[in-house]
Amino acid sequence: MSVSLQRELSVGEVAQRSGLAVSAIHFYEAKGLIASRRNAGNQRRFSREVLRRLAIIKVAQRTGISLDEIHEAFATLPEHRAPNADDWRRLSAGWRETLDERIRCLTQLRDQLDHCIGCGCLSLAECPLRNPGDELGDQGCGARLLEPATSQGTP
Ligand code: FES
Repeated sequence: MSVSLQRELSVGEVAQRSGLAVSAIHFYEAKGLIASRRNAGNQRRFSREVLRRLAIIKVAQRTGISLDEIHEAFATLPEHRAPNADDWRRLSAGWRETLDERIRCLTQLRDQLDHCIGCGCLSLAECPLRNPGDELGDQGCGARLLEPATSQGTP
């Protein structure tokens, strides 16, 4: 067996080292976030760099970053090496901006909900939460805010 093959991991080893379920690893592979190759016995083999990618996926998902956003970010990484510290600094800085924007939108929604408490009108014309297209749409908040968290499944 060559040195490169010795460094490859089975899906079970990846699960053990990453703390993820095998089904999660298959899910992330199906989503194109990680990749494997098949060995002569038609079994999946992963390079070790997949462990850092999985660590990034876990952290990003904890902070509400969608799989699509993670996919976009991974497309900026070199294909055949693990994301290094500089890569992670760059990705996390970009996601910090995304989180700041979401916090701003959530704060705005909370403040509008405060206005609804005790009102009860639920008027399409008057209530900003009933008609987010008027106010929130211009400011980039509203339904779009929660879309990434609700439109994607996770294993
Ligand atoms: S329920 Fe009246 S403003 Fe929202």
